[in-house]
Amino acid sequence: MKLTTRNQYLKQMYLLSEEISDFDRFPFNLPLLKYFKELDFHPNVTYIIGENGMGKSTLLEAIAVGLGFDPEGGTSNFNFSGYFSHSNLDQFLRLVRGVYQPKDHFFFRAETFYNVATNIEELDSDPLGGARIVDSFGGKSLHEQSHGESFFAAFNERFRGNGLYILDEPEAAL
Ligand SMILES: Nc1ncnc2c1ncn2[C@@H]1O[C@H](COP(=O)(O)OP(=O)(O)O)[C@@H](O)[C@H]1O
Ligand SMILES: [Mg+2]
Repeated sequence: MKLTTRNQYLKQMYLLSEEISDFDRFPFNLPLLKYFKELDFHPNVTYIIGENGMGKSTLLEAIAVGLGFDPEGGTSNFNFSGYFSHSNLDQFLRLVRGVYQPKDHFFFRAETFYNVATNIEELDSDPLGGARIVDSFGGKSLHEQSHGESFFAAFNERFRGNGLYILDEPEAAL
């Protein structure tokens, strides 16, 4: 096996087109899904680029939900799904995982990173809670940093490597 495939935690995804009854309804009417059948992920990094409204965020969210991450961002340990609606696209995507399990994972979503920061503060304010989550982001309150600084705190401190990272508009605050 080539070394590069050892950290390929997500190899491929494909759309279960035959199970979709109505391509005129959201999310199946998204331009991105019009000709989409399958995607082979690059062993290291895959970029998904396209114009606004193509459905990139919806697709990334569906991948994240399919992998068990919270749709609002963060890890599967964060849970705000109660007040955040996500599309049902994940139920129509088949994700092909690699042989190895990621050691770390994070769904970074610029749109809702503010909410993740708030959630971290709430969890950390619980006196019975364990280690402070903010320490894994460098220790400084994410709300007391600039937008760009808080993003870099996530990338530089929280992302430990050998992980599976889904980033939606990570350049937004840079
Ligand atoms: N719940 C929804 N119902 C109907 N349309 C939606 C819903 N959520 C998002 N959309 C639409 O889907 C389109 C694609 O959104 P998005 O995935 O954010 O695109 P991108 O990230 O490529 O800019 C947008 O035009 C948006 O208005
Ligand atoms: Mg988007």
